[in-house]
Amino acid sequence: MKKRSERFVRKTKAERQREIVEATVQLLTKYGLQGATVSRISAAVGISRGALYQHFDNREAVLQAALDAMGERSSQWICRSSGPDVPARLLDMGEAHSIWSSTEYDTFVRPFFQLIASNRESGLARSIIRRQQQDFRYLVDIVDEGKRQGSIVSEVDSGDIAWSILLHAWGEDIARLMGADEFVTEGVSNRILRRLLSTYTVAPAAHPVAPVAGSSVPPALPGRSTRSARPTPPRKGGDGRTGERRPASRGPAVPRRSLVVYSSYTGNTAKVAGRFRTVFEEHGWVCECVQIRKRAEDILHPPFEIDDYDFVCVGSGIRSHLPYNEILNLLRRFRLGEDPRFALRMRGETIPYITDPLPEKPPPWKDPGLIHRHRKIEIGPTSPKAVVFATYGGYEFGPKEAEPSLQLLDLEVEHLGFECVGRFCCPGKYLDDPTPHTFHGDIRGRPDERDLRDAEAFLEEKLAALASNPG
Ligand SMILES: Cc1cc2nc3c(=O)[nH]c(=O)nc-3n(C[C@H](O)[C@H](O)[C@H](O)COP(=O)(O)O)c2cc1C
Repeated sequence: MKKRSERFVRKTKAERQREIVEATVQLLTKYGLQGATVSRISAAVGISRGALYQHFDNREAVLQAALDAMGERSSQWICRSSGPDVPARLLDMGEAHSIWSSTEYDTFVRPFFQLIASNRESGLARSIIRRQQQDFRYLVDIVDEGKRQGSIVSEVDSGDIAWSILLHAWGEDIARLMGADEFVTEGVSNRILRRLLSTYTVAPAAHPVAPVAGSSVPPALPGRSTRSARPTPPRKGGDGRTGERRPASRGPAVPRRSLVVYSSYTGNTAKVAGRFRTVFEEHGWVCECVQIRKRAEDILHPPFEIDDYDFVCVGSGIRSHLPYNEILNLLRRFRLGEDPRFALRMRGETIPYITDPLPEKPPPWKDPGLIHRHRKIEIGPTSPKAVVFATYGGYEFGPKEAEPSLQLLDLEVEHLGFECVGRFCCPGKYLDDPTPHTFHGDIRGRPDERDLRDAEAFLEEKLAALASNPG
């Protein structure tokens, strides 16, 4: 018989409060303001209503704390950009919003809009307005700095420019909420932003801005793209399966480019993905972080070309021992260079959310050239690098249960010519159900801060190895 102290690990007050707040955010996402009741919140955390009131005076205080937590998330976006050149900073901030809002869709965008749409509670209403004004003033200050440095035209009201950045963000949020994601994923919103910002920007030659030592390379501005400074990567040869790749870019002038691409249904894998992105950025890499959902455009027209990156991280949650189909289908599409439904057709499988008719094409076993298109893939020191990652339940056997998925993702990225230099996994909660009799015990709240620090340390080690042996 276990001792009582072994059976129950008491949570600290701060941990419990965090749990209550996160459960409230999830309930706001799911049921809106009216549905985020004290009964539901306490049930989601697995405590009594009375226990909840030991942490918060009343429902409004819980909602206020949830709003504050969401505010912290939005600060990560709005305060992310630094660097001396104000137009570059504003563009970076605006462009980063699409990735940020995809990662924080369920943890900021939906709950926030739920709140503002049904906000009748005056205390909360005031908080939302206050936060809004803070963001606005923060942006006005940046614009004023640009006017002082001569990079922003002085005749346009700073407030108008600040509003236009906020409108860009809201436009993207609303497009996603309506399911019109193509406005964001096909680059329309960013093109509009660039056009808009170029009207506020003084031509670069007229406002030379000295680079600040140690600051990251400013992002591309209209007419001075950092991307164009990079040699155009040769396309993969022939059938797209040879694994021949350009060597990873070198030299201090061009920041190295990384991609974090993942699928996540309940946000666990998204948390690890977000942490990877932070690590890349802190190490001076340019990083794009893209969530792949069950949508035709995500598979057939993803907003990136995988060959463009020096380092990719590919991750997924796990169902029935395997990564989610959408990430596998995306990798298949890159590997095969065509609609992955052709390959799946051989196995009698389809992709239900891709509904356009598949063009006529003879089945591969009737194609005599097929077998000759296979080539041995050589991965070498100059190959770009990859890591694969997963969050999983591991109810019966623990980490062993993540292995098939990690192995499969590893194989797929090596097919694309990346050297897979590591596999990371950590437990991810199964909805909000307690799982006390499983391998890892109760994993509600996982991945937690410790898991995310492990994720950071894992990637940092890979980047350090790459820096000491660049190939
Ligand atoms: C329907 C379902 C099936 C699952 N199957 C497995 C499984 O076979 N093996 C496993 O280790 N975890 C399994 N899990 C747990 C998830 O992989 C885990 O919660 C993961 O963190 C979810 O990631 P996401 O939030 O990024 O979608 C399953 C979860 C659900 C909801």
